[in-house]
Amino acid sequence: MYRSHTCGELRIENANQQVTLAGWVQTVRKFGAITFIDLRDRYGITQLLFGEELNNELDQSPLGREFVLQVKGMVNERSNKNANIATGDIEIKVESFKVLNKSAVPPFTIQDDTDGGDDLRMKYRYLDLRRNAVKKNLELRYAVNRSARNYLHENNFMDIETPFLIKSTPEGARDFVVPSRMNAGQFYALPQSPQTFKQLLMVSGYDRYYQIVKCFRDEDLRADRQPEFTQIDCEMCFVEQEDILNMFEGLIKQIFKDVKNIDYKETVERMSWEEAMWQYGNDKPDIRFGMKICNLKFPSHTFSSKENISSLINGADFKVFDEAETVVAIAVPGCSEYSRKQTDELTEWVKRPQIGMKGLVFIKVNTDGTFKSSVDKFYSEEKLKAIASATNASAGDLILILAGAEERTRKAISELRLEMGKRLGLRKENEFKLLWVLDFPLFEYAEEDNRWVARHHPFTSPKPSDIQVMINNNPVIENAADYLKHPYANIKANAYDMVLNGNEIGGGSIRIYQRELQEKMFAALGMDAAEQHHKFGFLLGAFEYGAPPHGGIAFGFDRLCSILGGSESIRDFIAFPKNNSGRDVMLDAPSTIDEKQFEELQIKLNLK
Ligand code: AMO
Repeated sequence: MYRSHTCGELRIENANQQVTLAGWVQTVRKFGAITFIDLRDRYGITQLLFGEELNNELDQSPLGREFVLQVKGMVNERSNKNANIATGDIEIKVESFKVLNKSAVPPFTIQDDTDGGDDLRMKYRYLDLRRNAVKKNLELRYAVNRSARNYLHENNFMDIETPFLIKSTPEGARDFVVPSRMNAGQFYALPQSPQTFKQLLMVSGYDRYYQIVKCFRDEDLRADRQPEFTQIDCEMCFVEQEDILNMFEGLIKQIFKDVKNIDYKETVERMSWEEAMWQYGNDKPDIRFGMKICNLKFPSHTFSSKENISSLINGADFKVFDEAETVVAIAVPGCSEYSRKQTDELTEWVKRPQIGMKGLVFIKVNTDGTFKSSVDKFYSEEKLKAIASATNASAGDLILILAGAEERTRKAISELRLEMGKRLGLRKENEFKLLWVLDFPLFEYAEEDNRWVARHHPFTSPKPSDIQVMINNNPVIENAADYLKHPYANIKANAYDMVLNGNEIGGGSIRIYQRELQEKMFAALGMDAAEQHHKFGFLLGAFEYGAPPHGGIAFGFDRLCSILGGSESIRDFIAFPKNNSGRDVMLDAPSTIDEKQFEELQIKLNLK
């Protein structure tokens, strides 16, 4: 028997028991003739006391950090108790010990605030994983996994595996491809998601499917994106959007309860995509705080149902506003006393290339009822007052205004809002706010090819009221500059995203399930019959054999974990992640392969 207890288990009640522990040496502290060692395993740390009688032995073979050690001894009450650790009331008076394995000196210290930089920790990830901070993250991930499985099982979902060596699934990224030796010159694609398989399972009658599954996407990486990541992937049949929203807010609430002990009683807010863009400039708004956008000026075709109030700012000889397509503002609470230095710093902030604005206009709504602005030359006090009132500013607020081209300016005000929210402490780590964003556009304009692409994926159904618009209109875009005026630009999808604290944690849709409509959709995306048959013949065929109405959703499992764990980076929640260049620095992958492998695959490299 290697051990009778773990290193996190023994308490004062175990005093005077004879025990055997095994673990890793965290620290060695020598005090004259006695030595203290902290022994660590996954469960905790236990203090070991080596008395004088073992000194010789210790001197002959000194123990170093991370040695694997087995000790036998007696549990004793400690005279110097440590309230910070669960085993802090006791220590083991060691009677005999055995070094199970030695360790080289680790390249960084294995403790919470380690001296190891990111690259070093990733290179020695197996050591990094010994650290408490990383272990806690993996424990949280496992708790989310268990909670999701329980909930889905309770609700009759069935976990069914789907293949990894497949044909391309279009989810908007590039495929990772795998050459086939037995079919020389042909390639599998790794799934960007199990999308078509889960739909086929609905055709097969498995009416509630789920899988916690790896997906592979060759796309630019960010803190919340990895080339291989995990989804909680789900599909149901005989459902409408409302059924899906209810089922899956139930899932997330259950995870909140099980993992964070949060009873999320409120109804999950819902917002149309258009409202999200209008009020927050963003399709995944962080609704933990207000500071909504005031749209002072915007191109009429983008928000056709909204009232334009541009007369408030136009015609004052202020060219920046007069010539801008879009002018948007936020009222930042309690910041009217910002100094010149502070407003200059904000101006520099919006001018950074990532934000890309030419400048920033501000209006201070002073507490004494007066106004001070960077555009006093152009606007009377009366006008400033009217603008302030349109932005819903209160006394003491600082109004920040951006002007420029629609898309860029809206994105910039959204970033500025988030930044101000962060600076003012309004994005609280321990507050969780869920939101459904609904009614996404079905299509997105792809400038490079001057054509439409599916915003979610090509299996998403249009809103029933928009089906005729799709069928009756030619997808060809005659005038690229005016693509927003094409009828396709306004077609809405039966698609929904779940947003948590400003992050898209899941997305899904009600699917097309009739062959004819699916063919029309493919055609709208520029696929002729031959290409449709080549790429999706299997799906179109399946739709001829009794495909039920169905829909589903997939959650970004890593993302959900990182938000629940209070971290910006999903890497912290993945045991063996890739770095920002998509490399596994521990394995040194990707790497070249043997000449023999190329020969077997009948592939010759021709690198450019
Ligand atoms: P979608 O592409 O929206 O939908 O993906 C679902 C969720 O997966 C997460 N996610 C990622 N997480 C980490 N790294 C990535 N590279 C990455 N890409 C996406 C996001 C996202 O919300 N098949 C559809 C789902 C469906 O229609 O049912 C799909 O994959 O949190």
